[in-house]
Amino acid sequence: MKDKIIVTGGCGYIGSHTVITLIHHNYEVVIIDDLSNSSPQILDRIESISGVRPHFEQVDLKSFEATQAVFKTHKDAKAVIHFAAHKAVAESIQNPLMYYQNNLFSLLNVLKAQQENSINHLIFSSSATVYGNPSKMPITEDAPTQRSSSPYGNTKKIAEEILEDFTNSQSEISVISLRYFNPIGAHASGQIGEFPSGIPNNLMPYITQTAAGIREKLMVFGNDYPTKDGTPIRDYIHVVDLAEAHLKALERLLDASATSSLEVFNLGTGNGFSVLEMIKAFEAVSGRPLNYEITDRRPGDVPEMFASTTLAKNVLKWEASRNLKDMIQSSWTWEQNLRSELK
Ligand code: WQD
Repeated sequence: MKDKIIVTGGCGYIGSHTVITLIHHNYEVVIIDDLSNSSPQILDRIESISGVRPHFEQVDLKSFEATQAVFKTHKDAKAVIHFAAHKAVAESIQNPLMYYQNNLFSLLNVLKAQQENSINHLIFSSSATVYGNPSKMPITEDAPTQRSSSPYGNTKKIAEEILEDFTNSQSEISVISLRYFNPIGAHASGQIGEFPSGIPNNLMPYITQTAAGIREKLMVFGNDYPTKDGTPIRDYIHVVDLAEAHLKALERLLDASATSSLEVFNLGTGNGFSVLEMIKAFEAVSGRPLNYEITDRRPGDVPEMFASTTLAKNVLKWEASRNLKDMIQSSWTWEQNLRSELK
């Protein structure tokens, strides 16, 4: 058994896939999750896929006392991967305080508890949303960050600023912040995947729920953008590729190969697909037509986002290996077979 790793939000979408990758590489995983947007059945699924049941601690990271207590119990952990956060853009616009409170207090409490228990490595779940509306494609990590159009996005930008100040203030802690582009797809087992609560904000779950008959039709938010077919372009990335990138980042921190105390990497494929291309690709993979209608633009959407993957390739030694068909097929399998069984 290799080192013990604390994974906050380990029952969530990206967290659960990363936990499986870590277990496959013999890490001992402690999941901390408040189950506010996930199910304890995920632990059964992780066990059934990996053969190992991770330790589980149901803790609300907004409480410093509770965070400190669980970190003290697991002070032999070598690193933390901090996924736990609220992530629904529309909800964050309705309820910004909930987002600032949850996403920022939890980060501050994790950092303080790491410091008190000498757990000196952290991987942070950031987002390409920190780039705002970037002027140059592909987006490199040195592109300026901008104020996001949503409180959710802003919590990620502020979190990176907190990490910069914190890592500048003392030399023990090293942090890698991973800026995800648009994660989609599900585990090949069909047992875990994205489980949006209520009406999905994101394109892929909306497509699969429409095809499954849960939603009547997909609304395509605008076809008058300055792109090849008028619909916005995004860099969709398979969640299992993302999970593997976390493993690479972890190994880099544990090997002490990081060249600065805060490193930032884009996680994308470098390929952009428009909304209409996604619909066509889904129809081809699933063999069924998708009911959709063009409507007005969604406020805050930008025309085009895709990653420069050079830094992750050269420094993390990671690049995405799964293509769009793999992503869509696995999302569709997940939607059809198993999501309805989770409570
Ligand atoms: C993709 C494209 C929509 C839904 C957001 C967050 C980001 C990250 C991922 C997550 C856009 C269009 C969507 C629909 C549509 N956060 N669309 N009809 O906006 O790139 O990124 O999710 O935790 O921080 O900002 O992703 O999947 O919402 O949208 O036409 O019903 O699909 O307009 O062009 P986005 P998305």
